[in-house]
Amino acid sequence: MADTNKSIHGEWSSRFAFILAATGSAVGLGNIWKFPYITGEHGGGAFVIIYLLCVAAIGIPIMIAETMMGRRGRQSPINTLEVLTKEAGANTNWHYVGWLGVIAGFLILSYYSVIAGWSMAYVIKAFTGSFSGESAAHINSLFADLQASPVQQIFWHTVFMVATMAVVAHGVQGGLEKAVRFLMPGLFILLILLVAYAMTTGAYLQGLEFMFKPDFSEITGASVLTAMGHAFFTLSLGMGAIMVYGSYLPKDVSIAKTTIIIAGADTLVALLAGIAIFPIVFANGLEVGSGPGLIFQTLPIAFGNMAGGWLFGVLFFVLLVFAALSSAISLIEPAVAWCVENYNIERKKACVIMGGFTWTLGLGTVFSFNNWSGVTFFGATIFEALDYLTANLMLPLGGFFIAVFAGRIMLEKHSKEELDLSSDDLYAIWKFLVSYVAPAEVFIVFLHVLGVFGIFS
Ligand code: PFF
Repeated sequence: MADTNKSIHGEWSSRFAFILAATGSAVGLGNIWKFPYITGEHGGGAFVIIYLLCVAAIGIPIMIAETMMGRRGRQSPINTLEVLTKEAGANTNWHYVGWLGVIAGFLILSYYSVIAGWSMAYVIKAFTGSFSGESAAHINSLFADLQASPVQQIFWHTVFMVATMAVVAHGVQGGLEKAVRFLMPGLFILLILLVAYAMTTGAYLQGLEFMFKPDFSEITGASVLTAMGHAFFTLSLGMGAIMVYGSYLPKDVSIAKTTIIIAGADTLVALLAGIAIFPIVFANGLEVGSGPGLIFQTLPIAFGNMAGGWLFGVLFFVLLVFAALSSAISLIEPAVAWCVENYNIERKKACVIMGGFTWTLGLGTVFSFNNWSGVTFFGATIFEALDYLTANLMLPLGGFFIAVFAGRIMLEKHSKEELDLSSDDLYAIWKFLVSYVAPAEVFIVFLHVLGVFGIFS
C-alpha cells in the first residue's frame, strides 16, 4: 500500500527534521528581500492585511493538502499525482499539475539564484568594510554598480547554482537538517538586532504605521493578486516543493499542527524584516517603492552605522545566503526526484542537467538589469515578467488544482487517514477551506486580473 511505503529518496529522521526542512524552504528571499519591497510598492498596511488573510485562509489549508498528498504518494509530485489519481480512479491528466510545478520551479530558481547572488556579493562588501559610516547615497551607488555589471552577477549566480546543485546531489535530507538547525535561530537573532537598530533611527513609529495602519485606498486588483501570489511564494506552495518534502515525512507525524508552526515561523520572519527595514527607509528619506533593491539599499546603512556593524553585516548576509540556499534546493528537488524515478539516472547527473538548464535561464534575469533592460513583455522586464508569471499566476494556479484535488478528487477515506485529525469538525473545516474557499479565492482574484469585474478597465 502506498501509505506504508517509504520514499526511494529517503525519509526525514523526525518530525522536527521535517519542520526544519520545510521552514528552510519557506523562509528565504521571499521573506526578507521580496516581502518588504512589494509591501513598499503596494502601500503598506492594507497590503499586509490581505497577505496575512491569504496565508491563513488559502496558504495553510493548501500546505496541509500538499504535505498530505506527498506523504500518501511517496514520490516526486508528478508521479505522486499519478499514483493518487489511480488510487482515486480519477482522470490521469491531473499529473500535468505536477508538470506545471516543475516548470515553475525552474523559472523561479533561475531568478532566485541571481538575487541570492546579490546577497553573496554583499557578504564580500560587508566583509571589506564597504558600508562603514557611509551615506545612503553611497550605499545606493554600490547597489547600482552591482546591477549594472553582468560579469559580477553572472559570477555570483554561478557560485550559488553550483552550491545548490551540490547540496541536492547529496540528497536533501542529511546536510539540510543540520544546516537549518543553526540557520533559523541565527537569522532570527539578527533580525531582532536589526529591529533594535530600527528603534534608534527616529522613524520607528513611522515604519510601524506604514506596515500596520491599513489604507485601503492604496489597494488595487493588482495588489490583491500580488498579496495572494506572495502567500504562495513565501510558503513554497503551488509547485510541489512542500509535496516532495511531504513525501519524505514519516507516517506518524501530525500534518496539521506541523504546518501551522511552519507558516507561523515564516510569517514572523517576514514581519520582522519589514519592521526592521521601513524605519531605515523613512529615516534616510529613501523611496518605499524603490523595488527589488530595497534591502540592499537600506540594511547596509544600518550595518554601516551601528557598533559592531561589520560583524553583523557579514553574519546577516551569510545567513541570508543560507536561507536562500535552503529554499533553492526545494525549488529543484521535485524535478530531480522525478528524473531519478523515471530515467533511473544518478542524482548527480540529474543535478548537472537541471542545474545547467536553470543557470542558462538565469542569464535572462542578469541581463534584464543592464544590457537587456529595454527588452520588455507587456511593459515588464525579463525579471519582472518571470516573477509575475510564476508568483502571481503559476503558483496560485498550481495551488488551485492541488486544493481541488485534495478536497474533491482524493478519496475522503484517504485524506482522513493521512490527516488523522483529533476531531471530525476540524477535518470538515479543512475540507471546506480546501475544496471551496481557497479555489474560489484564487478564481475570483484571477477574474479580477482578467478585467472581468472591470477593475483594470
Ligand atoms: N518560499 C521561498 C521564499 O520565500 O524565499 C521561495 C520558494 C521556495 C518558492 C520554494 C516556491 C518554492 F516552491
